[in-house]
Amino acid sequence: MDVHLAVASKRDARRYSGAEVPDTVRTAILDAGRLAGSARNRQPCRFVVVEGEAVPAVADAVYAAGNVMSAGFVVVLVVSPGGGLVDFDAGRTAQNMMLAAWAEGVTSCPNGIADRDALARALGIEAPERAVIVLTFGSPERPRDPARRDVARWSAGAARLPLDALVRHVGSADR
Ligand SMILES: Cc1cc2nc3c(=O)[nH]c(=O)nc-3n(C[C@H](O)[C@H](O)[C@H](O)COP(=O)(O)O)c2cc1C
Repeated sequence: MDVHLAVASKRDARRYSGAEVPDTVRTAILDAGRLAGSARNRQPCRFVVVEGEAVPAVADAVYAAGNVMSAGFVVVLVVSPGGGLVDFDAGRTAQNMMLAAWAEGVTSCPNGIADRDALARALGIEAPERAVIVLTFGSPERPRDPARRDVARWSAGAARLPLDALVRHVGSADR
């Protein structure tokens, strides 16, 4: 998928078909996370793949358990401390992973952590390591074809503030 189309058409999906996410796609998702840049190339993120009997406990620790229970692939991003940009690094990593998934037709959603202690217990996360976000991935519940619209139409239809509300210019545009 063209990168502009992937960016424009990506929506966070909370319901999945229940189909397995193939190993090749899982590896592509994890590798896209690995490739994300980070401050001073510290690479503070680690990827906890949640499977089998570990899934329900993780579902209980997020705000919407169904997102996790119906997902085909669940990854928790954890970081080790170091500098003020660790969460920014985790965000870059998460978006890389979700876009790589979407390029393969796999949709996704970030899940905030409602019960941090329970999640840490379930996954054996110990300070100073800290979980940032639970990423759920899966085949869309209904088939989706990003190419049914072009980038401009996806952009125009997105539930996002217009550029005018987001951008401010400082200095003269005269060059
Ligand atoms: C840090 C973060 C935490 C989020 N937590 C949740 C969550 O707990 N449950 C959920 O359903 N969506 C969660 N989301 C997804 C947002 O609701 C979603 O990004 C936003 O509504 C835009 O959705 P759209 O891309 O489908 O328009 C989270 C997103 C972020 C960035």
